[in-house]
Formats: sequence, structure tokens, C-alpha cells
Amino acid sequence: MKGVILGGGIGTRLDPLTEITNKHLLPVGKEPMIWHAVRQLLLSGITDIMVITSTHHMGSVVNSLGSGRRFGCEFTYRVQEEAGGIAHALALTRQFASDGRIVVLLGDNIFEYSIAPYVDEFRGQEHGARVLLKEVGDPERFGVAALDEQFILQIEEKPTDPKSNHAVVGCYMYDNRVFDFIDQTTPSARGELEITSVNNEYIARGALQYSFVHGRWTDAGTFESLNEANSLLLRNDNRILAHGA
Ligand code: DAU
Repeated sequence: MKGVILGGGIGTRLDPLTEITNKHLLPVGKEPMIWHAVRQLLLSGITDIMVITSTHHMGSVVNSLGSGRRFGCEFTYRVQEEAGGIAHALALTRQFASDGRIVVLLGDNIFEYSIAPYVDEFRGQEHGARVLLKEVGDPERFGVAALDEQFILQIEEKPTDPKSNHAVVGCYMYDNRVFDFIDQTTPSARGELEITSVNNEYIARGALQYSFVHGRWTDAGTFESLNEANSLLLRNDNRILAHGA
């Protein structure tokens, strides 16, 4: 299984911090934000990782991550020339991912506990995709899942009237059909290829499974959530907790 870290976009919600640096290089705890995603993939046994970032910041991202030698993994890099959305960034990994399944992490998502058990659940899945859900107090900021006991019925991106408190967090696991589904996706009202549309294609085929995230989780795309991510990782000295810890 291969890993993908998405570090593109322009991070306008963090202006002026993101005027001169990439959001994913801002400090959380004692490390640059993007290192957390790297550590999560390594803990899940994934060492072949593609990193996507913008033209402007690719140099700094490569300066921070290097070849992967210091982490014990191998990085491949691709530039996303415009912030066309998460699914647009993911489409750039088509060739890299051509021989199997992928675990995709948004570079601004921080998890208190390891995602390894969820990746193992995906490994045990015959085909399809898996997303992770977390109950949140402000679901209108996220992709929101409507659930019954067994299945996700639908995901809505940033709904004004959310059907639940279950946010779909930024860790997605896909089989190879994901690229066909991205091809079928058209830009949303905000002009982006939405990962939520891709996930809804899996739902339409009865092929989307889910796990609930244990422990704390946050994105780091706003000043408030960046502060939350920072205190979460500072408290744990940037360690990712093992389940049962
Ligand atoms: O954090 C989880 C949420 O992330 C999900 O609940 C939403 O369904 C999903 O759409 C996304 O929402 P955001 O509006 O918070 O996404 P944002 O535009 O902040 O992008 C999140 C990350 O995705 C960002 O840190 C880097 C990557 N990205 C984003 C865009 C728009 C790219 O690599 N390229 C892009 O063009």
C-alpha cells in the first residue's frame, strides 16, 4: 500500500502566516505540520509516499522532508499548479498509485492516536474505500456523513443544515477506482473538485466503509484549529499515541 500527503491549496484562512510559507510547514508542537502526516503513514507501515504541494512552496517542502532518508521512507513529489480542490490534487497521483491501494492524508489534519488500526481494517477490506468519522461541534465546517447503523447514506460538503455531527476527517483510503470517479467529478460551486463527490460515488456503489476516530482530532486550517493542533501535539511532545495507551 502506498501513501499520499496532500499539501497543496493556498491556506488563505491563515493569512498573513501563509503569505511567505506553506500552511503545512507551520509549527505544530515542535515540528512542521506535515511531519505529522508522515509519521502517521510510517506507523501504518507505509513507506512509499507521494507529496503534493503548490508550485510556490515545493522548494520549502522538499527542504523540510528531503528524500525521506531521515524518516526511513521514500518521497516522490508532484506540483499542483492551481488549488483545484482535494480531488484535483489526488488526480496527480494516478500513475504513482497505478499498482494498488492508497491511503490519503490531508496535510493539515492532526490525530492524537495512530491511524494504523483503521488502515489495517482497510487492508482487510476486499475492495472499495474507507473514510474516518469524528463527532464534532461545528459540522458545517466539514464534509458531514448521514448514517444508519451500518452504512453511510450520503456525505454533504459544508452543509448549512447538517444531518449529523459526524465529520468526515482528512484520511481517505481508496482502491484504484478512485481515479475513474475523479474523472466523473465536476467542479463544485466553490470551483473545486471535491473529495466528497468522489466519496459519494463509492456510496452509490455500496463500496464505502467507515471507522470512528478514537481520541482527539483536529484540522489546522483556521487560527482556532491551528491553536488546537499546536496544543495537542505540544502536550504529547509530537508523539502519536498507540491505541490502548
Ligand atoms: O479536514 C477535513 C475536511 O477537509 C473534510 O471534512 C472536508 O470534507 C474536505 O473538503 C476538507 O475541507 P477543507 O475546506 O477544510 O479543506 P481545505 O481546502 O482546507 O484543504 C485541506 C487540505 O487539502 C489542505 O491542507 C491541503 C489539501 N489541498 C486542498 C486543496 C483545496 C490540496 O492539496 N489541494 C487543493 O487544491
